[in-house]
Amino acid sequence: MSLALLFLLFVITISILLSKLGRKYPFPPGPKGLPVIGNMGLMGQLNHHGLAELAKIYGGLCYLKVGQIHMVAVSTAYMAQQVLQAQDSVFSNRPATMAISYLTYDRADMAFAHYGPFWRQMRKICVTKVFSRKRAESWASVREEIYSFIKEISTKVGSNVNIGETVLGLTKNITYRAAFGSISQEGQGEFLKIMQEFSKLFGAFNVADFIPWLGWINGQDFNRRLAKARGALDGFIDKIIDDHMVKRKNRGIENGEEDVEDDMVDELLEFYGEDGSGKSDSITITRDNIKALIMDVMFGGTETVASAIEWAMAELMKSREDLIRVQEELANVVGLDRQVNEFDLEKLTYLKCVIKETLRLHPPIPLLLHETATDVVVDGYKVPAKARVMINAWAIGRDESAWTEPHKFKPSRFLETNAPDFKGSNFEYIPFGSGRRSCPGMQLGLYALELTVAHLCHCFNWELPDGMKSDELNMNDVFGLTAPRAVQLVVIPSVRLNCPMF
Ligand code: HEM
Repeated sequence: MSLALLFLLFVITISILLSKLGRKYPFPPGPKGLPVIGNMGLMGQLNHHGLAELAKIYGGLCYLKVGQIHMVAVSTAYMAQQVLQAQDSVFSNRPATMAISYLTYDRADMAFAHYGPFWRQMRKICVTKVFSRKRAESWASVREEIYSFIKEISTKVGSNVNIGETVLGLTKNITYRAAFGSISQEGQGEFLKIMQEFSKLFGAFNVADFIPWLGWINGQDFNRRLAKARGALDGFIDKIIDDHMVKRKNRGIENGEEDVEDDMVDELLEFYGEDGSGKSDSITITRDNIKALIMDVMFGGTETVASAIEWAMAELMKSREDLIRVQEELANVVGLDRQVNEFDLEKLTYLKCVIKETLRLHPPIPLLLHETATDVVVDGYKVPAKARVMINAWAIGRDESAWTEPHKFKPSRFLETNAPDFKGSNFEYIPFGSGRRSCPGMQLGLYALELTVAHLCHCFNWELPDGMKSDELNMNDVFGLTAPRAVQLVVIPSVRLNCPMF
């Protein structure tokens, strides 16, 4: 009897303690939800614009619950610092839908792996090998593809050029070539189709992600589509991996006789071993890891860079005085008798300011998606474990308390001393994220971005079609994996250089 009483007392004490803890740290403020579905009615608003509006009402840390998923939107530099720096180890996991988990071979990649030893290994391989500045081949593929791209535009002098479309073609070529080398060029069309389907499935709404017992609604069709998409990727990349293995064998690389590494698949094969017999640095990766990492590069490096180039050109078309200033700088530093090259970039101060300002107003990944590993308290509010954290880099870059005239395109703000840099320590400016999960492809991305915009501004003068005025340009964006322009930029080039271009 006394034992039962003691047990009852224990249970009551624990419940009181737990409820006190709950009361001590409330959830952050946020819109009230309905039973079971919570804030599912706001799903269409969970993009950078909608969340910025919610921040105006509820503040920099806003709580929502969709079905069973806790969500937190972070919309100020201060809150971003709390999440990405002060307590970053708790906030460094990634959320993934069922589709994402399946299509990344159960998070066998880096971008969707949770923070931990496996992610650290993948990141090490990518940072020290695959994305490293030392891997000259990636940088060479950027230069060579930009060369072909400018050549293509030079054939269209005097006519309309859809910058959005051509630039996306350029970045697809760059990443495809950096990933697979030149031996697989003929399969590019097929691969792009696979990527498109992945992209759709990544973004598809699946009720089971939020209310698992309603999974039957999307049902078998969705699962069949997922299986088909991953099967198509398997068929495509398995062949490429096999071809690369044969190529390496023929070159004698497997015996260490020759050290030729010309693309990312070669680089990753250095660590390959299904049976745990990888050769480099005692890190071993499987075929699934190789496939999933290649998809990270394709998704991480294609639309991001293309969207930033198109936005930079659109802002310059809108702000003619800035375009003139960039072109004057190019004329002074490079001269009109030759093309610009990578060694000129360091001296192109204003061009770099234009790129920074573009990334402030139009961060290609406007929402950084993280997940909490444990329960945690932020600024006096409780954020539960496994909460989906959406850091609104777009809203933070336009925060009135951090920026003067935040909505104005004003590259010269980056000429000021102590202007923020995108290295991640200024939380009002985080186009590449900050901390552990920040972008490992930043250097490569910036290189492609700066060099392309420099070439476009140096080689050509630009006009808008049909007598359109600068202030008539539509500057709206759309939300998908990235935030590209709603209406693609169309412009007319004319020759600017005194020398023959090719
Ligand atoms: C202008 C170009 C780019 C921008 C603005 C950009 C931005 C970002 C951002 C904001 C993140 C997420 C940070 C976070 O969650 O806190 C990210 C992650 C990532 N980026 Fe980039 N990126 C760019 C180019 C690239 C390129 C060229 C590559 C590959 C070649 C790349 C590969 C990745 C990968 C793999 C991740 C995931 C890292 C992880 O989860 O550990 N990105 N990027």
